[in-house]
Amino acid sequence: MSDLPQLWKKLRATKESKSLMSKYLTPEIYEKLKDKKTKLGGTLTDCIRSGVENLDSGVGIYASDPAAYQEFSELFDPIIKDYHKVEALYHPPTDFGNVEQLNFGDLDPSGELIVSTRVRVGRSHDSYGFPPTLNKEQRVNMERNTRDVLEKLTGELKGTYYPLDGMTPETQKKLMDDHFLFNDSDRFLKAAGGYNDWPVGRGIFFNDNKTFLVWVNEEDHLRIISMQKGGDLAAVYKRLVSGIQELEKKLQFARLPNLGYLTFCPSNLGTALRASVHVKIPKVAAMPEFKTICDEYSIQARGIHGEHTESLGGVYDISNKRRLGLTEIQAIEEMRRGVEELIRLEKGGELK
Ligand code: ADP
Ligand code: ARG
Repeated sequence: MSDLPQLWKKLRATKESKSLMSKYLTPEIYEKLKDKKTKLGGTLTDCIRSGVENLDSGVGIYASDPAAYQEFSELFDPIIKDYHKVEALYHPPTDFGNVEQLNFGDLDPSGELIVSTRVRVGRSHDSYGFPPTLNKEQRVNMERNTRDVLEKLTGELKGTYYPLDGMTPETQKKLMDDHFLFNDSDRFLKAAGGYNDWPVGRGIFFNDNKTFLVWVNEEDHLRIISMQKGGDLAAVYKRLVSGIQELEKKLQFARLPNLGYLTFCPSNLGTALRASVHVKIPKVAAMPEFKTICDEYSIQARGIHGEHTESLGGVYDISNKRRLGLTEIQAIEEMRRGVEELIRLEKGGELK
């Protein structure tokens, strides 16, 4: 039985929730959507549960399946516009730019401030639901299909798939400490069903030097990742683009013209790209203007063990915040400009 009325009652009764979901789920929209269901059986309950159970959510909503973005569009559309700061829902065609002639290289040639660089995209198979509408058997099937494709990659991308089921706790811890692997500790994702049947159907693929990685069935069906030590954004990005293009030859990813690549969380729609550096910026981060500077450059600061974690020793994860309404190369450029500004200020430059 659906517990939607209880979730709704809790949400209406609280003043605590500042999420985009609570901002846009008005009584009118609730009435309109409460009995709707997608073909895969996705409901409003599936979408808002995490945001109601976690009243400190920022976004507060996940899509039950790719079709939820259309079925519950009265709620999703304003949230997407608000998060990605766009007036209309439009997403340009994929454009990775000219990867052979990028107009940037290493963002920190001195090697003093940037510890590492990572760029990832999320991708969803267009034939499967998201966690609330995905059962164990489907997840395992999807893992098998994905694994088959991953294990055929060649050259620099060639690697091995390691299922989480059966991986020793020591190996998991080492991979996590080194920032390569995910875990099941995100309470927002947990409430959304993201850890159903954990760890079945999840795993990680990586090449020998762990510069090209793919997460299977973490938050999204796939997270395609390129990373390396230092600040050479051009090298990291180029490798990522080649990985995406190879995988696209074999896999069909869910995409809509107005929303771009479809992901479980609306914050990842569009390019689904997050480009980040781990950068030492103790001085800038202590400035009262830090948050304003980040907002001005549309960048986001996270702790070094990922979202919802704290910074350690003045090292922050700085990334592009917007993913929709701009192309891949524009998202990268947005992050690059923000990082360059933070580095300039850290090195004693004047505030503009
Ligand atoms: P995402 O949504 O991009 O997967 P998370 O914030 O959950 O992001 O981070 C996932 C993992 O990637 C974490 O272990 C985090 O420490 C690591 N990570 C993110 N950016 C970098 C980076 N620039 N260098 C090294 N590790 C990184
Ligand atoms: N659901 C969480 C919130 O609303 C996380 C949102 C963005 N992060 C993510 N990993 N999808 O705060």
